[in-house]
This record gives sequence, C-alpha cells and structure tokens, in this order.
Amino acid sequence: MIISFEGIDGSGKSTQIELLKDYFKLKSIDAIFLREPGGTELSEQIRTILLDNKNVINPISEILLFEAARADLTEKVIIPEHNLGKIVVLDRFYDSTTAYQGFGRGLDLQIVDSMNKFATNNTIPDLSFYLYISYNVSLDRNINKNYDRMESSGEEFFKNIITGFDQIAINNPKRFHKIDGKLHSTEIHQKIVEIIETKLSVNKNINNLSEKKNG
Ligand SMILES: Nc1ncnc2c1ncn2[C@@H]1O[C@H](COP(=O)(O)OP(=O)(O)OP(=O)(O)O)[C@@H](O)[C@H]1O
Ligand SMILES: [Mg+2]
Repeated sequence: MIISFEGIDGSGKSTQIELLKDYFKLKSIDAIFLREPGGTELSEQIRTILLDNKNVINPISEILLFEAARADLTEKVIIPEHNLGKIVVLDRFYDSTTAYQGFGRGLDLQIVDSMNKFATNNTIPDLSFYLYISYNVSLDRNINKNYDRMESSGEEFFKNIITGFDQIAINNPKRFHKIDGKLHSTEIHQKIVEIIETKLSVNKNINNLSEKKNG
C-alpha cells in the first residue's frame, strides 16, 4: 500500500507522519517513510538544488528537476518496497507537482499530468491525505522559519496551490482525503488511522477472495 501526505507548508504533514510511524510500530506493521524530493542519494542532491534560495530556476526546469528526483525515488525505492508488501508512506508525491507547478506556477495541467505519470511509471497512491489549512494559518505556523526557495514564492502562489489541492480532491474523491488541518493533531491522526484500517481490511478481503479462487 502506498500512502501520500499532501498540503501546503505547515499543514502538519510531518507531524502526522511521525504519529503514523508510532502507530505502525505499535501494530508491528512493516512501513517505510520517504520524503519528496529526496529518499535516494540523487534525489537528495536534486532537493538541495531545488530548495536553494540562490538558484533562479524557471518553472520548466523546476518541474523537470522535481520529476527527475521522483523518477529516481519511484524506480529505486517506492516500487521495490511496495512489491515486497511494505506500506510506503510519502511526505508529498506527484499531487504536489500538480498543485505547485501546475496550479502554482501555471504550467499546462495536461502536460504536468503526463509528466507525473511518466516519472512514476503510472504509480498511484492507494490513499492520499490532504491536510487543509489556509494561507494565513500556514504563515502563523511558520512564523520563525527560514524560508526555502519554494516557500518564499508569495501569497498568490500559495493561494493558487490551495485551489489546486482542492481541485485534486474533487477529481479523486476515493483516493484523496481532505482533512481539516486545524483540528487537534491527535484528532487528525485518528481520522487517518480509521481510513487506513478500512483500506487495509478491504485489501485483506480482496486477497482472501483471490486466494480462495486460485487455490
Ligand atoms: N493539528 C495541528 N494543530 C496545530 N499546530 C500544528 C498541527 N499540526 C502541526 N502543527 C504545528 O505546525 C507546524 C508545522 O507542522 P509540520 O512541520 O508537521 O508541517 P508540514 O506540513 O510538515 O510542513 P512543511 O511542508 O514545511 O514540511 C509545527 O510547528 C507543528 O507543531
Ligand atoms: Mg514537513
């Protein structure tokens, strides 16, 4: 199972991923946790380039760098770990590119979609959790933060990204779960666990059925 976390900066992705880590440990469920861009040596190097405030990167170069990092991570880690039966938890995945480079930077959404599919070999998360907060809440939460290159892109950029994530939620109602990021983190965690447990039990039933069929 592949699970991704999405949402603007400060929406609580890392907080929820840490809570999920503890939960899987408690349940002895084998899971691997990755961040995007990153997770391989090459992808981490690309991450450094992308987040460096000194770099002037045009939107096309930017998306190509993100997709290059993603292709490396998908091929070297996500697909092999998934094939081993592990749960792969991603701190951002291609929906972030749709929101940031598509809606945020204004690149053609169909091209962005094709690039996402190309980079991931059509890998689609089983579940995505979108933690929704407003731009102002994001600012309040990040008040003491040193902004990286992506984060220092301004208000309109971030409002367009929020519109983008909202649109992705509308387009993918079964996969993309929009959760109010202003709720208490334990309440968000409970909602997430509930959705994951439902999905795991559905998958288990499907596996049992196909085992019966084949054997
Ligand atoms: N549900 C919540 N309610 C209030 N504050 C929260 C909540 N979840 C996280 N925070 C706080 O908001 C800040 C940002 O949270 P976090 O680092 O988890 O967000 P993030 O989505 O991972 O951000 P980034 O995209 O910058 O990595 C932290 O100070 C965290 O403690
Ligand atoms: Mg984070």
